[in-house]
Amino acid sequence: TVLVVDFGAQYAQLIARRVRECHVFSEIVPSTMPAAEMLAKRPKAIILSGGPASVYAEGAPVVPEGLFDIGVPTLGICYGHQVMAQALGGTVENSDVAEYGGATVAVASPGMLFAGLPHEQAVWMSHRDFVSSAPAGFTVTASTDVTPVAGMEDLDRGFFGVQFHPEVLHTQHGMEILRRFLYEGAGCRPNWTMVNIADESIEAVRERVGEKRVICALSGGVDSAVAAALVQRAIGDQLTCVFVDHGLLRKGEPEQVEKDFVAATGVNLHVVDAQERFLSALDGVTDPEEKRKIIGREFIRVFEEAAREIVHGGAGSAGEPAEPVEFLVQGTLYPDVVESGGGTGAANIKSHHNVGGLPEDLQFKLVEPLRTLFKDEVRALGEQLGLPAEIVWRQPFPGPGLGIRIIGAVTRDRLDILRDADAIAREELTRAGLDRDIWQFPVVLLADVRSVGVQGDSRTYGHPIVLRPVTSEDAMTADWAKLPYDVLQRISTRITNEVREVNRVAVDITSKPPGTIEWE
Ligand code: XMP
Repeated sequence: TVLVVDFGAQYAQLIARRVRECHVFSEIVPSTMPAAEMLAKRPKAIILSGGPASVYAEGAPVVPEGLFDIGVPTLGICYGHQVMAQALGGTVENSDVAEYGGATVAVASPGMLFAGLPHEQAVWMSHRDFVSSAPAGFTVTASTDVTPVAGMEDLDRGFFGVQFHPEVLHTQHGMEILRRFLYEGAGCRPNWTMVNIADESIEAVRERVGEKRVICALSGGVDSAVAAALVQRAIGDQLTCVFVDHGLLRKGEPEQVEKDFVAATGVNLHVVDAQERFLSALDGVTDPEEKRKIIGREFIRVFEEAAREIVHGGAGSAGEPAEPVEFLVQGTLYPDVVESGGGTGAANIKSHHNVGGLPEDLQFKLVEPLRTLFKDEVRALGEQLGLPAEIVWRQPFPGPGLGIRIIGAVTRDRLDILRDADAIAREELTRAGLDRDIWQFPVVLLADVRSVGVQGDSRTYGHPIVLRPVTSEDAMTADWAKLPYDVLQRISTRITNEVREVNRVAVDITSKPPGTIEWE
């Protein structure tokens, strides 16, 4: 493993992903972790991340004591470069001139990291402090007009530092520099591949679960599907998946889970048709938060009942004595783990992330086979496990489903209208080849709004549909997607022609903030 020491969250995750793109496993650790604990993870290399602090600021994060004495090759990036220089006897200075954005470094002496690369290269900088003199034993490898020590290395001790950010795409040769550090500087081998990841994760699940029974709630989303497929591969019929059909899914989605997913994995599936139950619980409710609460609550109840039934009825293999279910599969991803402190103990279940937040009295132990993976890695793993592209490349979809895309009370009729309109929008997006450019494409029915129209020479008084295509990296911020006019036009024409009750189509052109992605 390669340890990425985190001096400021948004930098560390990107570095960790880039290391993995070099097919070397990486793990993020806080800069407060003692060196001995880091050493116990037996790292092949250490990378000190960038961070927002100045090394001179009060309370600025420091390198764990003794880290430079444990004999592990280390690369410092930006702030990491500065703390390395400072800790080993170099000088870091404050500057009046900041260097933000693109810059050009001149290679003074190629050393190991710059060997074979052009003398001048474009890099991405983001700093004010700078290293003015490298510690004894180091060679200065690169500099810019403002930064005398933009690169340095001490090959004898295996220490490297760069002031710029090799993990950012704007740094022309960033990945090559990173690869050189990993392969040549630290002797890492590129053996972290999807095949190996799948094999190792399957083995780990077998070891953790043994002969015990396991349950998993399928939402239809990517994470729970991949987690379930992996666990199925590991333990077969010891796993039972529960799929609660709450009637708020999009067209074709229940079938995707019930047929395609089962066909691809052979998983033991327990479907609960709870459509009536959710509809009557939502009857007449218009307040968004109220809807969310009801859907979450009903979901937990239905899941709980199903779990009890499975525990007591020994679902799956008929006739066998019931054996308690000990484990619950959870599709937790690495960013959640990092953001909640990176602990290895019982995971805290994020209500936004999983299917509704599960009842405590069920007392399951968790199996979280994706907790070391980033989203794009989960998709790759899903493909490796043979899941259909429609499942692996599904857009994120909120737990409360179409329930929060009908503005007004939820009824069966309104759900059918929205499902039809949504299916058309998705079909046309796919036909235009734009699926992977769009983060999410909510389609919203303004059920309590009517407007006048004219169709086939007669007056209509129907409902508007709002299209809400957005681009985003992580759903925290988003921009409205500039879909080509001809795609919008086809969607609009088809929806007004094919979906009864809809006589108007609008496009939402609000970014987030100030709007959220969903309307409720
Ligand atoms: P907003 O609307 O807050 O949504 O911009 C951000 C992202 O979260 C999704 N979302 C949910 N996901 N349960 C979920 O699992 C929920 O209750 C929920 N509400 C919103 C939304 O689709 C978007 O991707």
